Amino acid sequence: MDHKKLEALLHDMSLKEKIGQVFQISGQLLVEDAAAMGPMQEMGVTKEDLALAGTVLGVTGAERIQNIQKEYMEQHPHHIPLIFMLDVINGYRTVYPIPLAQGASFQPELSKECARMAAREAAAAGLHVTFSPMTDLVRDARWGRVMESTGEDVYLNGLFAKAMTQGYQGDGLAGAETLGACVKHFAGYGAPDAGRDYNTVQLTERTFREYYLPAYQAAVDAKVALVMTSFNTVNDIPATVNKTLMRDILRKEMGFDGVLISDFGAIGETIAHGLSSDRADAARRALEAGVDIDMMSGAYPEKLEQLIREGQVKEELLDEAVMRILELKNKLGLFENPYKGADAEKEEQVILCPENRALARKAAEQSFVLLKNDGDFLPLKKEEKIAFIGPYVNRKQLLGGWSFLGDAADTVTVEEAAREMASDWSITFAQGCQVLDPETRLVGFGNDQETCGSPDDQQALWEEACDAAREADKVVLFLGEHFLQTGEAASRGVLELPQVQQRLLEEISSINPQVAVVLFNGRPLDLRLVNEHSQAILEAWMPGTEGGPALVRVLTGGSEPVGRLPMSFPYCVGQVPVHYDEFPTGRPYHEPDQNRFLSKYLDIPNRPLYPFGYGLGYTAFAVSKVRLDKQEMTADETITASVTVQNVGHRTGTDVIQLYLHDVSASVVRPVKQLKGYQRVTLEPGQETQVSFEISEEMLRFYTADGTWASEPGVFEVMIGESSAVEQKAEFLLR
Ligand code: BGC
Repeated sequence: MDHKKLEALLHDMSLKEKIGQVFQISGQLLVEDAAAMGPMQEMGVTKEDLALAGTVLGVTGAERIQNIQKEYMEQHPHHIPLIFMLDVINGYRTVYPIPLAQGASFQPELSKECARMAAREAAAAGLHVTFSPMTDLVRDARWGRVMESTGEDVYLNGLFAKAMTQGYQGDGLAGAETLGACVKHFAGYGAPDAGRDYNTVQLTERTFREYYLPAYQAAVDAKVALVMTSFNTVNDIPATVNKTLMRDILRKEMGFDGVLISDFGAIGETIAHGLSSDRADAARRALEAGVDIDMMSGAYPEKLEQLIREGQVKEELLDEAVMRILELKNKLGLFENPYKGADAEKEEQVILCPENRALARKAAEQSFVLLKNDGDFLPLKKEEKIAFIGPYVNRKQLLGGWSFLGDAADTVTVEEAAREMASDWSITFAQGCQVLDPETRLVGFGNDQETCGSPDDQQALWEEACDAAREADKVVLFLGEHFLQTGEAASRGVLELPQVQQRLLEEISSINPQVAVVLFNGRPLDLRLVNEHSQAILEAWMPGTEGGPALVRVLTGGSEPVGRLPMSFPYCVGQVPVHYDEFPTGRPYHEPDQNRFLSKYLDIPNRPLYPFGYGLGYTAFAVSKVRLDKQEMTADETITASVTVQNVGHRTGTDVIQLYLHDVSASVVRPVKQLKGYQRVTLEPGQETQVSFEISEEMLRFYTADGTWASEPGVFEVMIGESSAVEQKAEFLLR
């Protein structure tokens, strides 16, 4: 439809119809009707409002969506189609590793492929928009939603934001196999005070702009269709009604011209924040801030009509929002084909198709991070007697908290995979214990929680595990968090494994100290105990539908772990938020300095247990000193920094060589180092290669003291190595 027609349509719509467009309803209402109507009435939403709603959240399935769309359009005065939206985060029915794990792959192009395949399944099931990517920068492992992010680094997050957006949206929103992407949560949601979800965010303008905004910007530059507001405050004003943030920063400065949607109920919540005086005030503020769609607070349908009729809100503001929504519907091609990709036959074919399962397996394999491997404990060897022990040995729930459409029944467990892929190996299997301590109740999760069986059952599991450990040459313990312990509303103040699993680890390792631990979790954990009682540690995150086979392949040496940590693993919770790109202090501490008055703790080290960018493989590499092709450059020149990398181990392997820069003195203090590039190299034993990075002036820019994005002449340090712990450096001068 051309723009003139959209304008004519808008012009012809009644006020009620226009308000309908800016209101998102729950799909439950359309499929379950009566049961869900109660909460809607509480929100002040009537059946008439529902009949005019513009978008739907949370309903899927080709046939169902086709039927709803048909019925809805027939009764709508202007036959305007609905947009169907849902959180397709790490996959639709085929579930890929959680986003934090995808970050660990350091391979945005692989995430692009996962997003493309997720879009293909979801679009066939009738969906039009996904609420992904989540590009919030995260530095605090207590926050449960770190699992939805790609980590703590501004550069890496930007690469993933762009790749995922492109993956979902493909060559255009109207395609039968694409989804509109929605970058979230704008802005700064990843920095809640003390890691508590929904809590206040307090960031300096400089930190906010330099670290938190760039990943959203990367999605905007990749033409993301929607942006979602965040629950938190920005500069003490809830983001959802923060006019400066939305109109000045997002729209004007960052150039976003798509649809802005609130987070779930967020407009109404600005009252509890202590900003809006009532629901009418909240609706007015949100519309004035430029929020186009009210997701589930009901304040728009309840209050906008009265506000506009009384002249408290200008109708042009509503028109502006409605036009953006109509434009989105137009870009999605819904006026021409309201069913877009919905196709029941194709849905059957693509969901969990071998191609998608293969991709899920590959993505999982590439996301595992080997944190420790003393004495080349891994890979396991066929001639060894092995015991696989722990609550994750035969667990189907490897999907993570946002896998609404994922069905744990589709998952291949580690045990299932091992019985098939390593059928001629000597492996025994024992559960040992449940994931959670018997007495743990996670507040608000109701019946989702599992019961732990009777004390006798628990004892039997325990003894079976001890027997298995006794008989084995090597034990692999499969331990982790419960999937409900990460994700939204899942902040934790203790970052350890559940106690029962810690006890299992202690007991098993006292029976047989030849222990490797494989971890399933959605956040960095305090791994001190795991470290103490194991020879090897493999971080497997929540690896998705094909997590089992991917793990068996890596553990048995069919491939090596190649992931690198996208977030620092703290020494203990007392360190968080801990991130590698911290600022220097006036009293820097370098171990083992004995001076009392330095920036350090009395009882724990400054360094995280495992730093950002870190990860081992099954071979070892030597990285030479950094060489620069010249010592000085002007703004229009570049410098080439190189190292020689050699595989000094005994098997072919891959390393991720990382470039970090540091501005030694500037108008504001600069981080001790910042990732500016990386390259993957695969080398045979003994083979060496030169890895080079071109450093340009653009890479040296930052948010300067006078608020401009620029570089400043002076000395810079160049560090190239295998993780953010790299120390060896060379220097150059920017003239
Ligand atoms: C979450 C969003 C999500 C939305 C819709 C909210 O609670 O914060 O990330 O997209 O629900 O499911």
